[in-house]
Amino acid sequence: MSDFKRREFIKLSALGFASIALQLNALTTYAQQANAHLGKWNANTILNWDAFLQQLTKLAKSQHEMPWNQKQYTNQVKQLLLSCNFPEFENVKKEIDAYENKRPNWFESANLHHEVDFQVSLFQFEKGEYIPHHDHPNMTGVLNVVSGNLLTKNYSIEKQLNTTREVINGDKTYTMKKCVIREVENEILKGGDVGILTANEGNIHSIMPNEFTQMIDVFTPAYHSETNALWYNVNEADNYQDQKFLFEAEYAIS
Ligand SMILES: [Fe+2]
Repeated sequence: MSDFKRREFIKLSALGFASIALQLNALTTYAQQANAHLGKWNANTILNWDAFLQQLTKLAKSQHEMPWNQKQYTNQVKQLLLSCNFPEFENVKKEIDAYENKRPNWFESANLHHEVDFQVSLFQFEKGEYIPHHDHPNMTGVLNVVSGNLLTKNYSIEKQLNTTREVINGDKTYTMKKCVIREVENEILKGGDVGILTANEGNIHSIMPNEFTQMIDVFTPAYHSETNALWYNVNEADNYQDQKFLFEAEYAIS
């Protein structure tokens, strides 16, 4: 390198470096888009956030096909999630760095991306911040544990029962309806693992983090004002009519 070039290089300001870094980032996105166009993305390609969203946008369009093959879609999202290193993405890193345990005994969440077709959320749990059984009506969910580990139990509706009862809580009266649910998954997911639920399989789940745990969740379609998720009281102590994997559950219908 000549003296002149070396001098010019040394003179490059911090701002100059920042601008080059930004342009390199844009260049990387462009290169990844070009690679995608040429079909060069595979399961081992490390993506950046923009490329991840671009891929996901394309995959999520499958929900408009009739019938929607949710098994195939959720597996594609799983592979996509596995090719991302989320803590290295600037927007995710920012949320992780800003983490504060604001709600005792309840998780913290951040919306990383939201559009009608899908949303991407970051969940952060302290040990034991349990999420009881709830469903995701007409949605798929693909969750990727980024750090820590959690016990997830997934259930499908087996049948509705014709039993209802009134429950009074304070000045409110609820009508509770009974149903039977089938446990389809009961596993500990650790860093790097992915769990899947579809509209018909494993749509009800509970989550128990065993230590400080972070996960990225892709919901398809996104939650909206009409989404009416149900919470279930599940009798986990006994199997329904002594049948393995079956449990009686109850939810409020009004
Ligand atoms: Fe959930």
